[in-house]
Amino acid sequence: AAVAFGASAQTNFPVKDRPVTLVVPFVAGGPTDRVARDLAEAMRKTLGTTVVVENAAGAGGSIGANKVAKANNDGHTLLLHHIGMATMPSLVRNIPFKVESDFEYLGMVNDVPMTLIARPNLPANNMKELQAWISQNKGKINLGNAGVGSASHLCGLLFQEAVGVEMTTVPYKGTAPAITDLIGGQIDLLCDQTTNTTSQIEGKKVKAFAVTTAKRLSPPALKDLPTMQESGLKDFQVTIFHGLYAPKGTPADVQRKLNEALKGALKDSDFIKKQEGLGAVVVTDKRMEPAEHKRFVAEEIAKWSPIIKKAGVYAD
Ligand code: MLT
Repeated sequence: AAVAFGASAQTNFPVKDRPVTLVVPFVAGGPTDRVARDLAEAMRKTLGTTVVVENAAGAGGSIGANKVAKANNDGHTLLLHHIGMATMPSLVRNIPFKVESDFEYLGMVNDVPMTLIARPNLPANNMKELQAWISQNKGKINLGNAGVGSASHLCGLLFQEAVGVEMTTVPYKGTAPAITDLIGGQIDLLCDQTTNTTSQIEGKKVKAFAVTTAKRLSPPALKDLPTMQESGLKDFQVTIFHGLYAPKGTPADVQRKLNEALKGALKDSDFIKKQEGLGAVVVTDKRMEPAEHKRFVAEEIAKWSPIIKKAGVYAD
C-alpha cells in the first residue's frame, strides 16, 4: 500500500487533563505575574486546556528561567519572561543557561513602559526637585529592584547613571514586595513597569515622576507624567518587552501549536483591554512570529550590553 509521505509526526499535545504551566520568574503580584495571568486566561481559550501560572522567583529572574531551560520539552512547561532575557547575559555572572540556545522562542507578547516612583512622603514633586533631593541625600538613598538582571535593576542602573549618583539598591524577589515597601516608606525610589504601578499612582499611594518611554502614555493616571527626556534625562529610554519561551528541543509541531495559541491570545479583546488599561501595548507586529522574536532578543542583547557596561559602575 502507498505510504503517506510528508505527514509530519503529530505529537500528542496538549496531553489530556495535563495543564500547561507558565513559569513566572518573580513572585506573584508583580508586573511579570500580571502579564502571565492575563495571558494564561487568554491562552486557556486558544489552547483549549488549563494554563496555570507558577512563580519561581530569585536571582533577578534567572532561577525561573533556568527551571524552564532544564524542564521536560513536551510543551507543558513554558517561560514568560521580559527584557531580562536580553540583559541577564550582561548583568548576571555565569547564568546556568544560554539565552540564545537553551530555549525555543514562541513569540513576543507585549511592550510595557516603566515609571520612576517614590515613597509618598518623599519631599519632591517633580524631577527637578527630586534631583535636588537626591544630591542633598547622597549616600542615604535606597532604590528597590527585583534583583540583579531584573527590569527594575536595569532601569535603576540607567537612572543612577543619568543623575550621576550611586544609590543603595535593595533587592526583592519581585517588584510586588518592593512597591509594598515603597508605599510603607521603607525604601525611597523604584523604577517599575506600569502594569504594577498604574493602580498605585491612581490611588496616590506613591509619587510618580516620569515615564521611561519616548512618548507620554494614555491611561488617565499616567497621561500627565512627563517622559524622562522632557525631564532633562535625555538618553534615558527603556521599554520592557515580554516573550514566551519553551525548553530547547520542544517538538516543532508543538511549537507551532503554542505560537498559534499565543497569536490567538494576542487578538483576544479581553486580554488587550486588560493590558492596555495598564499602559502595556500588545504586540501586533511580526515579533509575534518565533524567528522575529528571536531576532529581536538578539538585537536587544547587542543594544544593552554596551549600555550596561557603561553604567556598570552602578551594577550591584
Ligand atoms: C522586574 O523588575 O524585573 C519585574 O518587574 C519584577 C516582577 O515582575 O516582579
